[in-house]
Amino acid sequence: MYTPRFSNQSDALNQAEADVWAVSDRAHELAGKGEDVVFLCVGDPNFDTPEPILDFARARLGVGRTHYSPAAGEPVLRRAIADIETRVSPHPCSPDDVVVFPGGTNAIYGVLACLLNPGEQIVIPEPMYIGYVPICNALRLDVRKVSCPAETNFAFDTGAIKRAITDETRAVMINTPVNPTGAMATPEQLRELAAYCLERGVWLVSDEMYSMITFARHHTSLRTAAENLDNVVVIDGLSKSHAMSGWRLGWAVARGPLVERLTQFAGATIFGCPQFVQEAAAFALEFDAYFVRQMRDAYRSRRDIIVERISRIPSLSCYSPEAGMFVMVDVSAVADSGQAFAESLLDAERVSVLPGAPFGASAANHVRLTLAAEEKDIRRALDRIERFVTSGSRRAG
Ligand SMILES: Cc1ncc(COP(=O)(O)O)c(C=O)c1O
Repeated sequence: MYTPRFSNQSDALNQAEADVWAVSDRAHELAGKGEDVVFLCVGDPNFDTPEPILDFARARLGVGRTHYSPAAGEPVLRRAIADIETRVSPHPCSPDDVVVFPGGTNAIYGVLACLLNPGEQIVIPEPMYIGYVPICNALRLDVRKVSCPAETNFAFDTGAIKRAITDETRAVMINTPVNPTGAMATPEQLRELAAYCLERGVWLVSDEMYSMITFARHHTSLRTAAENLDNVVVIDGLSKSHAMSGWRLGWAVARGPLVERLTQFAGATIFGCPQFVQEAAAFALEFDAYFVRQMRDAYRSRRDIIVERISRIPSLSCYSPEAGMFVMVDVSAVADSGQAFAESLLDAERVSVLPGAPFGASAANHVRLTLAAEEKDIRRALDRIERFVTSGSRRAG
């Protein structure tokens, strides 16, 4: 009998993790059986990609832009990304500083694969985006987590990150604004951290996927804030801000030597993203002001509804996130954990929310509610959450 054998990398990917999606999988099962479930768990924009981008992509398909493209990305898109960077940053950006990937996930994977060997240490603040876990597992990285505690509303903590850096640390990866907490680093914090990492000979990677979904103040990129860019990498993309998650379009901006490595990585693993997708992305970046603002305004108004309603429910609390697509709700007064709360909320009221623990220990007493849902569904979910917490139906924990 043949016994299949797999690589260490695949074994690492296969290792058991907290089952992030267990509650949501059960919610889908219930919905499949005809139950009226309200989903507040996904981070996929519930808007259609704006029509002008669709039209542009159709037109490019129509003229045969369906062939291979350069490994680093189509010049028109690399130019559009570089132009944006140059406009907002004191450091000019050239298309040669940009590498295009099929989505932010692949950009993160490529960057970390080029920067670290298996077993090497990366420092990452938590709560952190769930998607980092399989990437770090696949690359067999030694992840040193830095807690951003709930008591500070999970605020970005430069001091704690600096203290976590050891002689073994090869890279720090931050996320600003953060999924799930909405926390944002200030320009001063980014500048200080970049300078410290440079001094310690450590890469600083910044995942800025929510850079265009900010409510209180504008996002400042690590690349804009840092004084020296030699150790700095910024990752961004169109999945969230442009409701283009399914187009798979992200990028990394870095200095020449890393760009060369990333291009080789992209050449070996992807061999170029689709031409028509990249051209539509370039178009989207040039003509996006109106629809990005519209979607951001909708997220802001949904955030305000959630925050206002939660503040009126006894025993639940939340802060108003200044960015991103999520609200973190503290359930510690009514449940043993976010997991227990999410499970019994689904049982009792058929609302699906994500438990906080898989994002990091600091979020274990929280659940994550998405802003990527229709206002009427958000209101319906909040009615049910209120009933759940205030009535006898709560069996959380
Ligand atoms: C913080 C963060 N980074 C990266 C990604 C992945 O982006 P993409 O869908 O473009 O792969 C996500 C998606 O949820 C995210 O929240």
